[in-house]
Amino acid sequence: MSGERANENRLDAGACEDPLLDVSGVFAGYGGTEVLHGVSLCVQPGEIVSLVGRNGAGKTTTLRSIVGNVTPTAGTVTFHSEDVTHLPAEETVRRNVAFVPEERRVFPGLTVEENLQVGHLGGGDTATRRDPEEVLSEFENLNDYRDRKGAALSGGEQQMLAIARALVGGADLLLLDEPTEGLAPYVVRQVEELVADLNDDGTAVLLVEQNVNVALELADRHYVLDRGEIVYHGTSEQLQDNEEVLDRHLGVSM
Ligand SMILES: Nc1ncnc2c1ncn2[C@@H]1O[C@H](COP(=O)(O)OP(=O)(O)O)[C@@H](O)[C@H]1O
Ligand SMILES: [Mg+2]
Repeated sequence: MSGERANENRLDAGACEDPLLDVSGVFAGYGGTEVLHGVSLCVQPGEIVSLVGRNGAGKTTTLRSIVGNVTPTAGTVTFHSEDVTHLPAEETVRRNVAFVPEERRVFPGLTVEENLQVGHLGGGDTATRRDPEEVLSEFENLNDYRDRKGAALSGGEQQMLAIARALVGGADLLLLDEPTEGLAPYVVRQVEELVADLNDDGTAVLLVEQNVNVALELADRHYVLDRGEIVYHGTSEQLQDNEEVLDRHLGVSM
C-alpha cells in the first residue's frame, strides 16, 4: 500500500506518478525571513488535495509561491510539466491555474454578472475560458442574485462568486485559500458541495484549510504543514486515525 511506503520514507510521501502540479523543495519567504523550508507536494489531474496546518504555518505563502506572488528562493514549481517557478502571477494564471485568495476579492461595486465578466477577461487562453452564463448556471445561489452588487452579498455568496470568477478564466487547477473561514456551518456545507461539484466536472483542487473537518470531507489526500515544513502526508483514513498528528500539528482532538 502506498501509505505504508510513505511512512517508511518521508521523501517519497505524497509523490505523484502523473502530476498536474508539482511543488518540489520550495524555499520562500518575505525579505530576509524564510517561511517555507523545502515544501514538496503534488496534485494529480482531477484530485482534491488538502494542505492543512495551523495559523501561521505557511499555507498562504505556499499558494503564493505556486501562483507566483512570492518567488521561491530555491526549489521548483511545475504545472503541466512546465517550469513556472519564476513566472509572475499573470503568466501562471494564463496557464489555467485559478487562485481564490483568503480575502475573496470580489468587486463590491459591480454586480454578480459584472464580476464574472471582469473575471472572463483574465485567465487562460481564449479557447479554455468559460462563458460567464454557463458558469453562473452552475451556481444556483448566484444565479438568483445576478444583478446584486458584490457588497450586498453574504460572506458565503462572496466566496462562491470569488470561486466562480476564478473559473470563468478557465481552470485545470483551483487553488482555494481557506474558503470556509468565517462562514456559518450551513454555508460551509454549500461551499463544500460546490467544490465537490466542480471537482466532479474535472477541476483539480488544492484546498488550503485550517478546518480539518472540511479537508477530510473534501480531499482524498492531505499534506500537513507546520512551521514551513510538510510534516505528514496521508489519505483521509490515515489522517483521521492519526491522533498524534492531529493533536501535535493541527491542534485538534477527534
Ligand atoms: N506579506 C508578509 N510579509 C512578511 N511576513 C509575512 C507576510 N505574509 C505572511 N508572513 C509571515 O509568514 C508566516 C506564514 O504566514 P502564512 O503563509 O500567511 O501562514 P498561514 O496561511 O498558514 O496562516 C507567518 O509567520 C507570517 O507572519
Ligand atoms: Mg493563510
